[in-house]
Amino acid sequence: MVSSKLAANQPDSFAFSDEAEEKITYWRKKYPTDKQRSAVIPMLWIAQKDHGGWIPEAAMRVIGDRLDMAYIRVMEVVTFYSMFNLAPVGKHLIQVCGTTPCMLRGSGDLIKICQSRIGSAGKVSDDGNFSWMEVECLGACVNAPMVQISNAEGDHYYEDLDEASMNTLLDELATGNAPMPGPRVARETSAPIGEAITLLDKTLYDGSRGKRLKSIPNAPAKASKAKPKTKKPAKETGK
Ligand code: FES
Repeated sequence: MVSSKLAANQPDSFAFSDEAEEKITYWRKKYPTDKQRSAVIPMLWIAQKDHGGWIPEAAMRVIGDRLDMAYIRVMEVVTFYSMFNLAPVGKHLIQVCGTTPCMLRGSGDLIKICQSRIGSAGKVSDDGNFSWMEVECLGACVNAPMVQISNAEGDHYYEDLDEASMNTLLDELATGNAPMPGPRVARETSAPIGEAITLLDKTLYDGSRGKRLKSIPNAPAKASKAKPKTKKPAKETGK
C-alpha cells in the first residue's frame, strides 16, 4: 500500500463504469445471497482499476452500501492488503519486493534506482509516469530480485533484475513501450539457467520403463462374480 491514510484530495463522489458493473455482476454471482460481503475484495479491486490505480473514500462508501457493510469494515480490508492503494499512484506503479531472498539478491539496488529516478516511496513522479513502493514477498523468490509493475496493461512480474536491467525497464516504460514481462536473464520462466543437468535419461520420458498391470490395485470385485447372500431356512423343531 502506498499510504495507510486517506489521500488529502478526494473526489466528491464515485460511480463504477458500465464495464466495471459487468465485472461486479460476474463476481457477485459467485457468492450466495447471504454471503455477498465476500465480494468486497473483488469489488475493491475493480474500483481501484476503475479509478486509475487507487481507491477513494467515496468508493469505499459505495461498496459498503452495496454490500450492506459498515464503512469501517471496508476500510479495514483496504488497509490490510498492500494491493490496495489509498492515494494516487503513477501511470506505472513499481512494487519492489524487499523480502529476504530478493534482498539478498540485490533488491536494495533496485530501491536505490527507484529513489534516484522517481523520488521517495509513494511519491508520484513530476511527469505522472511513475510511483514506487516496497512490498513483501510476491511469490517469485526463485527469480529474485523482482518487481511487479501495475499499469493500464495489467499487473506483471519482471524478474532476475539487476541495476542495468532495472534502468532499461524504466527507460522503456518512460518512452511508452510495453516491455515483455518475465526474467531478464537467459532462462525460461523459473527453469534453471543453462542446459538441464539432471533427469537426462530419455527412457524416463519415452514410456519404455512402463510395465503392463495385471490387475488394478484395490479395484472392486466384479458384480457378476459376487455370490448373493441367501438366508438359511429355520430348523423344524417337530413341535
Ligand atoms: S522474496 Fe521476493 S518474491 Fe519472494
